[in-house]
Amino acid sequence: MIKEKQHNTDTLIGSLLSPTCLRNIEFPNRIFFSPMWLNSAEGDGMPTDFYRDHYWRYAYSGLGGVILEGTVVSEIGRITPRCLGLYNDAQESALGEIVSGFRARVAALGKVPTRIGIQLRHAGIKASMDRPKQLPPTEILLPEDGGWIPLGVFSYHDREFRYIDADGRKIIKEQFVEAAKRAAKANFELIELHWAHGYLFHQYLSSENINAGEGHGGPLENRIKFPLEVFAAVRKAVPDIPLGVRVSFGYKIIDVQKEIEINRIVAGEIAREGADYIAISDRGLPGDTVAERREMHSLALERIRSVAPSLPIMAVGGFGDLHTISDFYSKGISDMFAIGRTLLWNPMLIHEWRHQVGLPYLGPEVYKFSFKGTTNFGPS
Ligand SMILES: Cc1cc2nc3c(=O)[nH]c(=O)nc-3n(C[C@H](O)[C@H](O)[C@H](O)COP(=O)(O)O)c2cc1C
Repeated sequence: MIKEKQHNTDTLIGSLLSPTCLRNIEFPNRIFFSPMWLNSAEGDGMPTDFYRDHYWRYAYSGLGGVILEGTVVSEIGRITPRCLGLYNDAQESALGEIVSGFRARVAALGKVPTRIGIQLRHAGIKASMDRPKQLPPTEILLPEDGGWIPLGVFSYHDREFRYIDADGRKIIKEQFVEAAKRAAKANFELIELHWAHGYLFHQYLSSENINAGEGHGGPLENRIKFPLEVFAAVRKAVPDIPLGVRVSFGYKIIDVQKEIEINRIVAGEIAREGADYIAISDRGLPGDTVAERREMHSLALERIRSVAPSLPIMAVGGFGDLHTISDFYSKGISDMFAIGRTLLWNPMLIHEWRHQVGLPYLGPEVYKFSFKGTTNFGPS
């Protein structure tokens, strides 16, 4: 997968913005819209019209792919009552409509076959939060205010939780398998499992997980067992869809160095189990400079590369400019990039980048002659 990188900038950007394959699917380039939680579902985890409009904007983005936000596999796994869900027929059908509308728009554009994927998650003990006014922190939503008792393997903020036992693990595994099958039926073209940011699988992986019984807590080889078991079951259920895992560091659930080491082990294991990529997200720690964050991120990615050299890496966190991406890409540290906040505000970013490096315009024709007030595009 990791192709020889040319150090000539034009060739480099050209390669970054050229097609790449994950499993049997071709992605038109290596830049993705990162999962960005809208927290705006209504009723029982149902997308509103806003979701449809929001995601359809990216059909014209020229991106390699768009990954729908963390979508929960069960009601109890919701972070807030407004999380998007994929655990019933109505949700599957509504998300299927978003996918078909997206794909129809991509096809009508007829230029960049931007793909659409989905991230699946379970909040674990970080469930039943109030609608956050900002991210983070979030406030705990108590049962008397419409909340619920979350599932977990260790206490968090001293809150009450229901301990996940063997039956609980079986149910959660089935929920992920079911959600992945629903995602396939809804015609999503990629699935990402969320093992990051302090949610359920990150809780399992965390060194704070010392008490999960039955050999699932304590040493890392125990803590990793359940996430891997779920991964293997999902892989088996959707053998044809590119399947990735998102891990993270800097989310303060555990020490950063330990997290980087955990991510290295995770990468080796999921590569063996047939993962198509690993996404590694860095939030940065308070007080860290940009240079320190970059250094830590490079280190984390290099460790992953050392244990799983052929597992494609998607870097996430602070990659909203072409210079930083080119730097990581040219050094061979990362193969793909997910961008969150910058693309949220500017879905047409890739067209601007292509313009900057003199590549042909690939967006909607009607936008072409008003792009940044210029008609200077080369032939499309
Ligand atoms: C409002 C908001 C919602 C997010 N939702 C998710 C999510 O659903 N799943 C996820 O893995 N990360 C989520 N993230 C993290 C982003 O995907 C991304 O990793 C982070 O914003 C850093 O990348 P950036 O610097 O390009 O924004 C969210 C971040 C923000 C700010």
